[in-house]
Parts: sequence; C-alpha cells; structure tokens
Amino acid sequence: MVTRQFEGKQQASDYQKFRFDPSQEIIDLIFSYVDERFPKLSEFAVDAGCGTGQNTRVLAPYFKKVLGIDISEAQIEEAKKATRSPNVTYRVCPAEEVPVGDTSVDLLTASIAAHWFTIEKFLKEVDRILKPGGCLAIFTYLPSMEVHYKDCSEQMTQVFAEVGDSLVPYEHEKIYHLKNGCKEMYESIPYPDKRRIENIVTKFPMPLSGLMGLIQTFPEVQIFLKTKPEEAKEMLRTAEERFLRLMGTSSSETEVEVWLQNVLILASKPQ
Ligand SMILES: C[S@@+](CC[C@H](N)C(=O)[O-])C[C@H]1O[C@@H](n2cnc3c(N)ncnc32)[C@H](O)[C@@H]1O
Repeated sequence: MVTRQFEGKQQASDYQKFRFDPSQEIIDLIFSYVDERFPKLSEFAVDAGCGTGQNTRVLAPYFKKVLGIDISEAQIEEAKKATRSPNVTYRVCPAEEVPVGDTSVDLLTASIAAHWFTIEKFLKEVDRILKPGGCLAIFTYLPSMEVHYKDCSEQMTQVFAEVGDSLVPYEHEKIYHLKNGCKEMYESIPYPDKRRIENIVTKFPMPLSGLMGLIQTFPEVQIFLKTKPEEAKEMLRTAEERFLRLMGTSSSETEVEVWLQNVLILASKPQ
C-alpha cells in the first residue's frame, strides 16, 4: 500500500520554497559511477518520488528526456510550475508502477523518497524498466541534522534534536529506514554491482526563518499540526525563541548553517 504524507497544497508550496536541491557532491558521485559503467548514458532518466522537482530539474542537462513521477498531485502541480526545461515531464503515479516500457531507462533516481516506497515492489519495477547496465541512485539525508551558528552550534543542534524528539509520536514507521541509514534497503537490491556511501556531509546556509520553514515541511510536523494544532504551534514557537535566544538576536532573518548527513546508494543492473 502506498504511503501518502505529502498531499497538502500548502505543504507542496512550502516544500518548493524551503527544501533544497541535491548537492553537487552527490550529483558528481552519481555521474562518476554512471560514467564508469555506461559512458553513453544520455537518453532517459526517471526521478521517482520527485516531489516538487528539485532533483528532477538537476537531471535535465544530462538526458534527452527526464520524467518525474510522484503519487501526490499537489507536489506534481508545484513541480510543473517550477520547471522550465522542455525535456522534463511529470506524471502522477506510484514509483512501484512507472508508466514506461521495459528496459527503457538509463538512470533511475529517488531523492529523499525511497523510504516511503514499498521496497520489494519498487525494486522489481526498477529491474523491469532499467536498461541492462542502467543505474539506480537512491539518496537521502538522515534525521540527525546539525544547526551551526557561531560558538553555539552544539546548543542549536540540541534544540533541533529536541524538536525531533517531540515529533516521535507522529513519525511513520517507514522512518526507520532513515534511522538505520537505509541499510536494509541496500541489502534488498539484488544486483552484485552496488555500493552504499555514507558520511556525505552537505552544508546549507539559510536564515533561521528558512530552517523553521524546513521543519514545517516534515510530515510529522504536518500530522502534529493537524491532530494537536495549539500544541504543535507552541512547540514551533518555543523552538524558534530558543534558537533566537542562543543566537543573541531578535531577527529570524539571521543566517544559520544546516549540516546534513547523507547516504547514497548506487547500483547497476547486470548487462
Ligand atoms: C520527502 S519528499 C522528496 C521529494 C523530492 N524528491 C526531493 O528531493 O525533495 C518524498 C516524496 O515521495 C513521494 N512518494 C511517497 N511515496 C511514493 C510512492 N509510492 N510513489 C511515488 N511517490 C511517492 C511523496 O509524495 C513526496 O513527494
């Protein structure tokens, strides 16, 4: 059964605004893996669980055609609004049933999304649609983010960790994939040519208001806001106040740096 945690229109528009593009380091790792195995890779890429298209758009210069798919209509609507490249199209559909032909795809990516999929079904579909030698790239950041600001990074990170603790009751069970660094997902991939790279740290400067916006895109926060709106708003307000106090400023436009721990899984279908 598909998991639907990204259906809201406001959530999709916040997602477009506050989530970040994949880092160049991750894109470079993907393409150096791909180039070693499949030098003429340029026809067709699919981005599964594309959300508002942050990763889909990045693939556009590398392929003749790119398809972004997502089960959320609201996310696809935002992705379409934000994408200018004529070689990129979007469809609302599950990652477990991609509407493309057998052995037609050179690269299939899933950015911060595969933990939501029904993994066994998804991997069967990957095997159906990848060309021989075609590549799969699954990547995501993990829940243990750090928040850096001058000499109070440790305390800022602690406040962020406490926000995470308050969200545990609203977490979907599939979040365990992220908590164990996607190890089981990696083990389930049936191809011998595969690797899992961890400890990729990416750093994003953003105003504190951006960090608060990012936190609000988390599905757990959305559920908390729906089930206990006053408590959820109070939690967010308190977290922002604590951040500001630590930073010694009253302006939410003051810039912090968010450090993400990423995992990248790469695999190639046998020739
Ligand atoms: C955290 S968002 C990631 C979006 C985007 N890839 C990014 O890098 O920001 C996860 C996305 O996966 C989608 N999703 C969840 N389960 C799905 C499934 N079974 N098939 C397709 N999309 C799915 C959600 O609707 C959501 O848009």
